[in-house]
Amino acid sequence: KNRFLASLAALDDTVPLPHRTQDRRLPELPAPTDGFANTPDTDPAVAANRDWGRAVLDRVPGSTAGTATVAAAALQTEEQLDRVMEAALAAGRGWAALTGDRRAEVLHRAGEALAARRAELLEVAAAEAGKTLDQADPEISEAIDFAHYYAERARELDEVDGATFVPSRLTVVTPPWNFPVAIPAGSALAALAAGSPVVFKPAGPTKRCGAVVAEAIWEALDASGISRDVLALVDLEERSLGRQLISHPSVDRLILTGAYETAELFRSFRSDLPLLAETSGKNALVVTPSADFDLAAKDVAYSAFGHAGQKCSAASLVILVGSVAQSKRFRNQLVDAVSSLTVDYPTNPAAQMGPLTEPAEGKLLQALTTLEEGQTWLIEPRQLDDTGKLWSPGVRTGVQRGSEFHRVEYFGPVLGVMTAETLEEAVAIQNEVDYGLTAGLHSLDPEEIGYWLDTVQAGNLYVNRHITGAIVQRQPFGGWKKSAVGPGTKAGGPSYLMGLGEWEPAPLRG
Ligand code: SER
Repeated sequence: KNRFLASLAALDDTVPLPHRTQDRRLPELPAPTDGFANTPDTDPAVAANRDWGRAVLDRVPGSTAGTATVAAAALQTEEQLDRVMEAALAAGRGWAALTGDRRAEVLHRAGEALAARRAELLEVAAAEAGKTLDQADPEISEAIDFAHYYAERARELDEVDGATFVPSRLTVVTPPWNFPVAIPAGSALAALAAGSPVVFKPAGPTKRCGAVVAEAIWEALDASGISRDVLALVDLEERSLGRQLISHPSVDRLILTGAYETAELFRSFRSDLPLLAETSGKNALVVTPSADFDLAAKDVAYSAFGHAGQKCSAASLVILVGSVAQSKRFRNQLVDAVSSLTVDYPTNPAAQMGPLTEPAEGKLLQALTTLEEGQTWLIEPRQLDDTGKLWSPGVRTGVQRGSEFHRVEYFGPVLGVMTAETLEEAVAIQNEVDYGLTAGLHSLDPEEIGYWLDTVQAGNLYVNRHITGAIVQRQPFGGWKKSAVGPGTKAGGPSYLMGLGEWEPAPLRG
């Protein structure tokens, strides 16, 4: 089970991130003592699971999962938005007054409700986002993990000595379309666990995924006798309402996952709004001569082309160190690993690389069709049908330091090969980009590993593992440099909820 293949090393929340915007220390939480365990993915080695997956994907072409709820939540006017906000605020007062233990019960129920919807979530993630089975299934596990993990962290908020946690009055959650299940579920459940009501606006292409996530949380609220209004699902039919939503005076926190430019735009709407944003990435995986080449080639291909490279965490560059740059063996293995990927729509359960969510355009289309000077295609990407969405993977060599391909995020199935004389140079290449989200090293040399871990500037470091697919609790996920905006806490990590409210000194006892 790939979910249980932990990386040899990953940074945890104890590493201070220099982009912290709040100049104060959060109180220490007690070490987790609960029995949280990650939810296993659906095991394809079991024949019944394969039948199940095929049956779910067979429904995808005409899928209607999640449709009804989205229609019910469509907002067209500012007055409608005001009413949703007021209802959430009113329900939120009761919610905030509950103990962490009580909120934990609801979160655990939400985890169960999400688990009960695995088929529906798989169907709608495939239908709306083009997610293949091997990508969507772990994402659903992650959503379930967030519920159970944050449930336990909610209890701890009541236990911090010397300070009282004051929940936000209202949190807006604006997730992306590329992880349309795990990121909205994780963001909304974190805010709820921290005692805040939530207004959740799903990304445009994945509204039905958002609706199924919301339905699961509502079911948990119903079963707990709590007003559904603590989670409002909104579909802003009128574009200008986006600005009204962010700058609404009732909102006092925003959880955003999306492009860095979106975070800047939201900041321009309201500069004083506390923002937790996980933003863009330009991520590289380094391969040194000591690496296990078989594993490295496989992990590069998976990191670059899973979900057609449409992940902020995806590998966009591979940096070959020293003799690896000339190694025919590594080159052949990389070509084999990439060109043997099954590229198809998710209705094919064996697809390993699916379509783009939207047809390629702009800078991505350019990156799929043109080379910069000195670059050549090792594998030239091809458009496989006339939708503009289905492309075969592309690998270009000769990417130079400082070139556009070195620095720009493309968010699609195209990988650039760079070379470095030494590991020091490879790290310099990694650190020269504006972003710092994920980074990978393939090396079997402990000294190299130690040096790399000490010097590379990224929030999520992976050694001898693919660089996408962070796992709740094991690899809390959060960026560095322009890959994050906010307090520097990581999703799926022990401090995340603590960044979602304010702390007040506790009243003197006795
Ligand atoms: N958490 C995702 C990953 O690790 C990215 O958002 O791939």
